Formats: sequence, C-alpha cells, structure tokens
Amino acid sequence: MIIKKAKRIQELPPYLFAEIDNKKNALKARGVDIISLGIGDPDLPTPAHIVERLRAAAADPANHRYPDYEGLLSFRQAAASWYRTRFGVVLDPEREVVSLIGSKEGIAHMPIAFVDPGDIVLCPDPGYPVYAVGTGFCGGAVHRMPLTKANDFLPDLKAIPASIAKAAKLMWLCYPNNPTSATAARAFFRDAVEFAEQNEIIICHDAAYSEIYFDGEKPISFLEVDGARDVGIEFHSLSKTFNMTGWRVGFAVGNADLVAGLGKVKTNVDSGVFQAVQEAAIAALSSDQSSVDRAREIYQSRRDLVVKSLDKAGLHAIPPRATFYVWVETPRGYGSAEFAAKVLEETGVVITPGTGFGPSGEGYVRLSLTVNGDRLAEAVGRIERLSL
Ligand SMILES: Cc1ncc(COP(=O)(O)O)c(C=O)c1O
Repeated sequence: MIIKKAKRIQELPPYLFAEIDNKKNALKARGVDIISLGIGDPDLPTPAHIVERLRAAAADPANHRYPDYEGLLSFRQAAASWYRTRFGVVLDPEREVVSLIGSKEGIAHMPIAFVDPGDIVLCPDPGYPVYAVGTGFCGGAVHRMPLTKANDFLPDLKAIPASIAKAAKLMWLCYPNNPTSATAARAFFRDAVEFAEQNEIIICHDAAYSEIYFDGEKPISFLEVDGARDVGIEFHSLSKTFNMTGWRVGFAVGNADLVAGLGKVKTNVDSGVFQAVQEAAIAALSSDQSSVDRAREIYQSRRDLVVKSLDKAGLHAIPPRATFYVWVETPRGYGSAEFAAKVLEETGVVITPGTGFGPSGEGYVRLSLTVNGDRLAEAVGRIERLSL
C-alpha cells in the first residue's frame, strides 16, 4: 500500500531546523567542532527550587491521574497573581486563564477554534513559523505583514489593504519579537487594538519573551492597553523565563470567549499539563524572581559580547533590547541562506537564515545567545576572523 500524507502535511515547508541539522551533522561527521547559535533553547538549568517542587509533586499519587485540561485552579490563580504583580493586569483565573502544554500548543490550536477554511490570518513576516502553520492546518489563508527595519520591525497596519483588513479573522503579534528582537511601545498596542476594533479582528499576542529584557526596560503586556481584553488573548510560556523548555508548560490569558474557545479545542485534543509540572510551575511563578534577574544579567552580558564582536567583524546588528536573539544584517552581496551556509561551512557555527522565518527575513540572519559565555566567545571569534 502506498501511504499518502494529507495535503496539509505535504504542503508544509521543510522544518527550518531540520535542513540546518542535516548540514550540521554532515560537518560533525567530518570532525568539525560545531557551535550552534541556531535554536533558542536556554543552556541555563531550571532553577533548583522548581526542580525540587517537581520531585515532591511527582511522588504524590494525587498528581498521577488525568489533569483537567484547563489547568489546576491553583495554577491559574498563580498565573493571574504573577500577571497582576508584573503587569498590573487583573485576571479572573476561572474564566480568563487556561494552561497550555507550552505556548506552542496553544498557538497551534488557536486557529482550530476561530479560523474557518478561507479565513484570512494576518501573520508577521518574519515570524515564529507556528502562526502560519496552524493557520494552514485549518485551511486559513495567511496574509503576511512585513516587519521592516524602516518601521522598527513593527507591522505597518496602515499598509494592510482595507479589503484584507475587513476580511481578516485573526492577527498574530509577538513582542518582544522573535526573530528580530524588537520591542513594541504602548502606542503600537493601542493602534493594534483600534485596528482590531474597526475591522473585527481577534488579536493573539505571543509574549513568550516578555521576561528576557535588558537595560531595565520592561516590556509591557498587550492587555495593559484599554480595550485589549475585548479583542485579544496573550500567550505566555515558562520555557524562556524559567529555563523550562523541556517541561512543556505555558498559559494563555485574556478575553474569556477566546480562552473558552481555545479550551474547547483542548478538551477534545489533549488532557492538559501533568499536575506535578503545574505544581512546579506554581513554584516558579510564585517564588521570588531572582533567578530570572540572574538569567537576564547573563543574557545581557552575552548580548554585549556578541554585538561588539559582530561590529569588529564589520557586521551590523541592532543591539537587542529584549529576547536572547540578535538579528544581524547579512554583508552586502550575501543572501540569508548563502551567508548562513558560509558561516557554517567556514567556522562550524550554526546561525539561522532570516528567510526561515518568512520572505521578509531576507537580508538577515539570527544568532541565539543560549550557549555559555566561553563557547559564545569562541563562536563570535571565529565569525570575526571570517573574510567577508
Ligand atoms: C515566539 C515564540 N513563541 C512561542 C514559542 C513556544 O514556546 P513554548 O512552546 O516552549 O512555550 C517560541 C519558542 O521558541 C517562540 O520563539
């Protein structure tokens, strides 16, 4: 029998990191010392008090059964309380918070609840690929919103044709932004809410990097803006904030109908987050946040090292104000993929071509700061010695 995959799978672009991995593995097999600044996966360990909480919670038989899909009320209360402390936004933990098996799960499932075949979804370009993939899985049509340097890597809402804006069902935003590391000011979120109200568009704001910020400039929550809760939902992750990528825990907060719609998908698809992990997540959200402060300091010193070194190499990077990524312009004459391939082949350093995040990523590469200081220094040192 010939097994034929569904069109939605056949039409997927190759997973960005799979192609890079193939090249990397071939070089490794030749004995090259590879340093990966590709994927954004913190090298720092999960803080010990969170691991300890998991250890204890895992031993409790009450946590061995199916969890509730929407999350323990105590987890949702901890998320709401963290939100109030961090952003001054008050949430109803019963109606306005839902747990997620990592924010990727919620991002991928959101269109199932709200996007019908043919519906238009506005996605940032470049952007986290799951926005477009989740849309495509539901038969939705992606309309790309280019993020350009000229517009501070914010979508130009006025450039969206009126017919598209009127027809669009949902818009994805992400600040602090992956991959450009741009941040959004309150005025932009205000404009986005106004645009959403005028055109009846749901706003999904991905705030996975809200806690990785530098120079004391705290990013705001989209929900801090008047009217945001009428039109939107915000996705959060414990992955980057508490170095918990492998644990798979996050949450979405905001408009109660949007939270309920996402919850409805989850009741039918998954059974929520292992309760012991939720207990550990409560410890993460409720205890003092000094481990997050320390991680931030580490990333900031890595950022400074990388930006300085790229500058010496003649490469231009806007020093990031947030996230653990550096978005770098490719040297004149090089395309993104071509430059990433040259760096990998000549230095053994993996970097990500901007085009992996959408066509408007052309002319850029992304470097991740999630390797330890010595290896990072070695990696950028090698890039400095490249002849460009
Ligand atoms: C912009 C953005 N959103 C969401 C995620 C998903 O994170 P998680 O599923 O670990 O919460 C990532 C992961 O890299 C990301 O870069």
